[in-house]
Amino acid sequence: MPRLDRRRILQAGGAGLIGAWAGGSGVGRGDSEALRLKENVIGRTPFTLTAETGSAQLVASGVKTPIWSYDGTLFPVLRMQRGETANIALHNTLPEHTSVHWHGVRVANAMDGVPYLTQSPVQTGETFAYSFAPPDAGTFFFHPHCATSEQVGRGLVGVLIVDGDTREPFDDDLALVLKDWRIDDSGAYLPFTTLEGTSRAGTYGTLRTVNGLVTPRYTLPRNANVRLRLVNIDPTRIANIRIDGAEAHVIAIDGNAVMPFALDGWRLGPAMRLDLAVRTRDSGTATVSDYQAATPVPLTTLDFQGEAKRSRMWQPLLRAQLPEPDLARAQHCQLELGAGVGLDAPVPELKPIVFSDGRTFDPTDSLCLAGTSLWTLNGQSWPAGGHERLPPPLFSFRRGASIVFELFNATPHAHPLHVHGHTMRFLSSTRLQRPPHWADTILVMPNERVTVAFVADNPGRWMIHCHIVEHQEAGMMGWFDVS
Ligand code: C2O
Ligand code: CU
Repeated sequence: MPRLDRRRILQAGGAGLIGAWAGGSGVGRGDSEALRLKENVIGRTPFTLTAETGSAQLVASGVKTPIWSYDGTLFPVLRMQRGETANIALHNTLPEHTSVHWHGVRVANAMDGVPYLTQSPVQTGETFAYSFAPPDAGTFFFHPHCATSEQVGRGLVGVLIVDGDTREPFDDDLALVLKDWRIDDSGAYLPFTTLEGTSRAGTYGTLRTVNGLVTPRYTLPRNANVRLRLVNIDPTRIANIRIDGAEAHVIAIDGNAVMPFALDGWRLGPAMRLDLAVRTRDSGTATVSDYQAATPVPLTTLDFQGEAKRSRMWQPLLRAQLPEPDLARAQHCQLELGAGVGLDAPVPELKPIVFSDGRTFDPTDSLCLAGTSLWTLNGQSWPAGGHERLPPPLFSFRRGASIVFELFNATPHAHPLHVHGHTMRFLSSTRLQRPPHWADTILVMPNERVTVAFVADNPGRWMIHCHIVEHQEAGMMGWFDVS
């Protein structure tokens, strides 16, 4: 992580980013026309998260759409302070089993929420106690890790904000969750995936929403420093984020602070997060848009008409504190993202896995199975129906080893590749140039080679997969072992 340096910041973002701040004020909450996401402060007392069925009015003229959610509200925000321990009991009242994966949080393996790999699935009526102290501040999210396209497709996602990365509070802090819905005009679900979509870029939603609303309009304070937290939880769509009408800088990627740079289009694939510092004006509006297609799609309107705040500019976030890989002595590994049916892997020699709650799982027994094998990692598909066993690990790393991953996308479609339990340092790419940053999900473009590095310091069995959920479920998923 480069040192935050005044000269570089000024080059990146124009004059005056760091100035003297005379007055003090806490994080303000602008009056909002659209409803903001419901926020729960956790970390001090145990918290119960109930996975439940409900409904939401997504189509104005239609009926309510049945949704699955945490605590009956779409995309609730759990907010805590770095250094605190979250004690969250997941209570499952859904008609099928589920679990919670804390995406991007470097938790202990037993808390990672992957059924059959790190815990038993949480059956209907059961409760599972998650407990973890996030080592990093930033913007994260959480979701189930089995039947994901359907459970997430129905809305089962939440946002986790870990505070502790600011030098000065922002005047406002707004989470924007991007998610499309696969519904028809009456609000009823279409099939969550299609073979045609799964074998290509994915099955796109028909209704685009932000925070569950179509182009919501939020009121922000005037002349203020506002933190926007964009979270792309769509299982399929890659957005290219721009803001028209206000000066915006990228301050964090996947929750990890970066040296601020002016936002000039950022490809935000499924599971990726982008924190922006927006300087609001004295009046007027700004629009957050997706420029991925020829015609930009407006996602959210920001109205500058709240209370006027201050003239001082915002401060960069505190530097992310992640284990720095030793590139000189790193172990180099190739990972090819491929298409086609993966070869049968030899049956791994895995002993029954004992989970933290004492239950065991025989790796030859049962899995979250995919229906089709269309995608591969290093020539291997996650087993499809019929091969009911855990495949062998793609890699086995010695604990503490520095790993350089050379990712190569041998397919004609982009893949956001996600690694569990570790945060990767982006090193280089042959196509999409990106500034130095840390990420848990890296978008690998067609034919692109991306080099990343991380320290394999978190013992356990970790998933690695494409976060276009259909690709994951159709084979582009594997695991690695750190011991
Ligand atoms: Cu966001 Cu394996 O997950
Ligand atoms: Cu993919």
